Amino acid sequence: PAPMGHKSGKQVFYGRVVHSKSLTELEILPRAALGVTETGTIAFLDSSVASATDACKKYHPDFDGATCTTLEPLQFLFPGLVDTHLHAPQWPNLALGMEGDLKEWLHNYTDPIEASYKNNEKAERVYSAMVRRELELGTTTCAYNSTIHYQATNTLADICRKQGQRAIIGKLCILINSTHGNWEDSVEKSLEDEMKSVDYIRSIDPKGEMILPCIQPRGGAYCPPDLMAGLGKQAQNGGELIHVQAHMCETTTDIKEALKTHPKYSSYAEMYKAYGMLHEKSIMAHCIHLTETDMDLLKEQKAGVAHNPNSNTCLRDGECRVRELLDRGIKVGLGTDCSAGYSTFILDAMRQASNVSRHLVIHTGEERLKLSFEEIVYLGTMGGAQVVALDDKIGNFEVGKQFDALLVDVGIESMSAYVGEHKDDDSALVKKWVFLGDDRSIRKVYVGGKLVAGKDT
Ligand code: GUN
Ligand code: FE
Repeated sequence: PAPMGHKSGKQVFYGRVVHSKSLTELEILPRAALGVTETGTIAFLDSSVASATDACKKYHPDFDGATCTTLEPLQFLFPGLVDTHLHAPQWPNLALGMEGDLKEWLHNYTDPIEASYKNNEKAERVYSAMVRRELELGTTTCAYNSTIHYQATNTLADICRKQGQRAIIGKLCILINSTHGNWEDSVEKSLEDEMKSVDYIRSIDPKGEMILPCIQPRGGAYCPPDLMAGLGKQAQNGGELIHVQAHMCETTTDIKEALKTHPKYSSYAEMYKAYGMLHEKSIMAHCIHLTETDMDLLKEQKAGVAHNPNSNTCLRDGECRVRELLDRGIKVGLGTDCSAGYSTFILDAMRQASNVSRHLVIHTGEERLKLSFEEIVYLGTMGGAQVVALDDKIGNFEVGKQFDALLVDVGIESMSAYVGEHKDDDSALVKKWVFLGDDRSIRKVYVGGKLVAGKDT
């Protein structure tokens, strides 16, 4: 195998391959051959191949001489996990601060720690350890929220690039309704510093292959109209849209404060749209208490929803009605919302999305609100790819996409008691992984064909 983070030559994997074809179809190919080019592109996915040698020599002569990996019987390839919403600076607070509601949590825990990233050494220390851990947990793409400091934001971009994680990164903008000094001096400074991060990210990755810039108003209650208008203009970027990541309709109190700050609008989505902030590269976190107008606009503008079930439960925000969003054709992905949620493992987000949907069934008696196994896997991989507007590049193993993948092993010691008598049931093995697995099963993590983490590295 190629050394960590280095360009590999051509690679062929032979064995079980699992990925989402659609919300209802989770494809499991027990004897597949998957070829990856030197640039990390998936060149072929053959569904039924007799052996690894056949895969290379017989069907794909130009892969003769490629590095061949034959998976063991209890191993499979699974798409890299996509986290559509994670607050990088809040990482040290994971598992703390669950006593209060959103407002209390923000003021008691979040504002003080975010303000502390004025010290860029802290950013280097925390973000290096965080990105390393995120890759071990199989998050190959992450949409990060940062802080009001462009230096710390640029440091995060450097670290993701160095460690090989695909990321969407921007400086957070806050002017009002914040505490502990966690706000910026002026509209002008906020906008100027936002562009410093956008420009910096473009300078380190001009083609946007791995790191993409992002405009980040914290939410409607934190950015007054003149700041929102300026940020919207930056996000529109003369027609070449830049990603947006922001909070929307998390609690009823937050909605009231947002609309009080922007009295010209009667709904959260209408406000973002009016400023030019709701478009096909927009990631809207939470979207729990939506009006009809909000949903119509999310759909119309092709904006995506980051569903953060762990966070929404911890802060008692409410339950996002994922079924309704999916039925309307709105893009939905999963987020961990570290540190309002206590886990940054996307498999945890899948489990919690399943549970939250089941609680909705309990409250309403409407069975259709329940998310299926196929759906939760889709949300954590393909759905996430759609929400971050990279579905032409990642999310499953379609030919032409980048090879962002996990080599999962449910044959390890810690899983043996669970897997036991289901060794020959492909579907059971995948369910055991999703509901019972942890990073001990993640033997290798690939981003763009490069080995970047995993227990085998
Ligand atoms: N609303 C505004 N800021 C935040 C944040 O950092 N986390 C969550 N969960 N909600 C927010
Ligand atoms: Fe958040």
